[in-house]
Amino acid sequence: MDFATGIDLAPCNTLALPGRAAYYLRVTAAAQLADPALAGRRRFVLGGGSNLVLTGDVDRLVLHMAIPGRRLAGEDGEAFYVEAGAGENWHDFVQWTLAEGWPGLENLSLIPGTVGAAPIQNIGAYGLEVGELLHAVTAWDFEKQAFFTVDRSACRFAYRDSLFKQQGWHLDGRMAICSVLFRLPKAWRAHVGYAELARELAAADAAAPTPQAVAAAIVAIRRRKLPDPALTPNAGSFFHNPVLPAAQAAALAADFPGLPCYPQADGRVKLAAGWLIEQAGWKGKALGPVGMYEKQALVLVNHGGATGRDVQRTMAAVQQAVRDKFAVDLQPEPVFL
Ligand code: EPU
Repeated sequence: MDFATGIDLAPCNTLALPGRAAYYLRVTAAAQLADPALAGRRRFVLGGGSNLVLTGDVDRLVLHMAIPGRRLAGEDGEAFYVEAGAGENWHDFVQWTLAEGWPGLENLSLIPGTVGAAPIQNIGAYGLEVGELLHAVTAWDFEKQAFFTVDRSACRFAYRDSLFKQQGWHLDGRMAICSVLFRLPKAWRAHVGYAELARELAAADAAAPTPQAVAAAIVAIRRRKLPDPALTPNAGSFFHNPVLPAAQAAALAADFPGLPCYPQADGRVKLAAGWLIEQAGWKGKALGPVGMYEKQALVLVNHGGATGRDVQRTMAAVQQAVRDKFAVDLQPEPVFL
């Protein structure tokens, strides 16, 4: 098989970082993955590039997942089963499910990226994680040279985490997700527990909100707070919200009144990294061409012309500032390549 060579990846990552792929293949059908020419190479599987820091040229075969397709795969008394190809745009897919009358994913509206990438870091927003509505993932295993399907319970979903990350499969290019099957319960209920969402809906006077009203509210909040990657290159939240033992969180809360604390089911407490970064003086601040966004301090932005090295410098400076003030280590959310 002939691969394209020296392909510019700047348009393929939402931070618009420079870097060239030694070899590149656009994958538009799952069957392409079974070509033996792919198995012998070091690979990286690329989706929408919205959770990626390119640190330079990529000395691998980059497989750009563009498998299309979306359909109602089945239905029973309780749920609709909807399937989508890995290359489908996530937001367009969510809007399509709503238009077809299969609600459930509306809280995840406007998240950048592709359907195939969604399970890897278990995308989540406004009180919902994709793992809650996912039924199964089908992927190609380059080592076993076979397709495999993982059902929801085996995906080991956790906060911004899954089997695919835990096993290092994604970073190694060991497998490529081809399609995702969702289970959308017919007994729909709105997830409006997130305070900002409840406020937005109240302002829109949506007492008993429809899925479309929830989606519109989410889109409005995100447009207000998060930069549009097409105008200001970014990769969404740049750090995980840290989850601490309860005693450590309580000690911090005593020292820093106003510290947002979210108790977790396992007894630990999640903090808001954006708050920590803002308090550490980094909201709207930059080092060279890379800074933290002025309206949401958790979002790292490329103000123009940045390289992966610039991103790493700003990241390290922010981590140090938060460590100095709060003795908390922030872990980056994106994959570094
Ligand atoms: N905050 C500040 N200053 C800031 C930013 C936030 O004080 O500059 C405070 C807010 O006032 C609030 C708290 O931090 O009390 C939480 O902020 P927000 O509701 O904006 O959410 P987040 O924790 O910063 C997370 C996800 C987002 C998701 C939102 C909404 C992570 C790493 N990020 O952000 O996900 O959209 O909640 O559910 O969990 C993403 O992963 O790329 C992403 C955008």
